[in-house]
Amino acid sequence: MIERTLVLLKPDAVERGISGRIIARFEDAGLKIVGMKMIWIDAEFSKRHYAEHVHKSFYPTLEAMITMGPVIALALEGVEAVALVRKMVGHTEPKTAAPGTIRGDFSHVSIHYADAKGIGVKNIIHASDSVINAKKEIELWFKNEELHTYKSVHDVHTIA
Ligand code: PPS
Repeated sequence: MIERTLVLLKPDAVERGISGRIIARFEDAGLKIVGMKMIWIDAEFSKRHYAEHVHKSFYPTLEAMITMGPVIALALEGVEAVALVRKMVGHTEPKTAAPGTIRGDFSHVSIHYADAKGIGVKNIIHASDSVINAKKEIELWFKNEELHTYKSVHDVHTIA
């Protein structure tokens, strides 16, 4: 039941200076940060992270967007963290993402608009979509020694 999941604050979030406000939402919900770093990935790493999307028509714009600046990678831990974080992140398309979700509150463009402009959908954030992918993605982004086990207040007040 206690899961770890990967979150990426994409270059658009970092460049807009909203990283702290987004991270605070996860902390407020009681999720524990067990890994965090800033990294500027290249095209080769993008292809490893987005392996299942490499052959899709939109992939070139996705790669251009994720490599345009540094990202902040987070490994978050909590009860059923994968589904919980996906709920907090909201729908992939900013226009469709509900108010109250991270994408709904911090972005607004449609996929139609981004495609017409030939730009990637700047949807702020990535979150693992399954427990299996979360494990794979955390292994890709973090070395073992970059992940930490410690007690937070939520181990006492939320989880216990
Ligand atoms: S799909 O086709 O259903 O598998 O796509 P989805 O799971 O919704 O999205 C996979 C990732 O691709 C990004 N995406 C796009 N990027 C650029 N242009 C377009 N049109 C587009 N559509 C989807 C989407 O944001 C997902 O990346 P992450 O990092 O998980 O948000």
